[in-house]
Amino acid sequence: MDFEEKGKQLYQLIDQERIPYHVAIIMDGNGRWARKRGLPRIAGHRAGIDSLRETIRIAREIGVKILTLYTFSTENWKRPKSEVKFLMKLPEEYLQKEIEELCANNVKIRVLGLIKELPENTRRALEDAIKRTKGNEGMVVNFAMNYGGRGDIVRAVKKISQLLLRDDIKEGEIDEEIISQYLYTKGCPDPDLLIRPSGELRISNFLLWQIAYTELWFTDIYWPDFKKTHFLQAVYDFQRRNRKFGGIKG
Ligand code: FPP
Repeated sequence: MDFEEKGKQLYQLIDQERIPYHVAIIMDGNGRWARKRGLPRIAGHRAGIDSLRETIRIAREIGVKILTLYTFSTENWKRPKSEVKFLMKLPEEYLQKEIEELCANNVKIRVLGLIKELPENTRRALEDAIKRTKGNEGMVVNFAMNYGGRGDIVRAVKKISQLLLRDDIKEGEIDEEIISQYLYTKGCPDPDLLIRPSGELRISNFLLWQIAYTELWFTDIYWPDFKKTHFLQAVYDFQRRNRKFGGIKG
């Protein structure tokens, strides 16, 4: 069976009643994809945009409600200046091309991360997209941009400390719910499924608090080769997992 056929078959097999509500993706392997082809790393990032577009489309089509994409981590600043500069330009370029389709498809854009530290143009492009899509209710796309999971938790701890210092809450009131409310993902239920392509089997400081009971799905293929069939395969496999949340049976 060819790849396209497999996608169609998976589409039929997927249980519409058990679509993961929130899917998170670590879009990894762009650099290696490019190197394999003798291309500069940035060509890999550019090709990754096509996978991003295809993934947003299929996720929306099958009824995923939240898609969280790791676009730039707080550790990615360590990369060569030219690559960082390119990665900072991508959201602007992408949004310029896609904002109309995103709006037409009722997609709401949100950003998780320290948006204030981004270069002016990147920040403006993201803030414009947030504003323009604010009223949309079809699917939320979270771009984790200048995001780190540990930093997310530190920020929440600082905010909760301020509440304590001002006597706005008592120590005994601090619980998991309150901590969740001070994370960037405030208001989003935790991811049901986390996808990581590229063969790496790690989390890389992504959504550390939020993935306590998330199902993890890994594949060896590089992000620019990730197509809708892979997404459907991940969802199909997810539907065969027995989620126990620490209990006995899902
Ligand atoms: C990881 O691959 C990928 C990134 C750091 C960037 C991912 C970003 C995009 C696909 C586009 C973002 C677009 C928008 C609209 C915000 P890598 O470079 O670490 O690959 P490698 O491990 O093979 O070197």
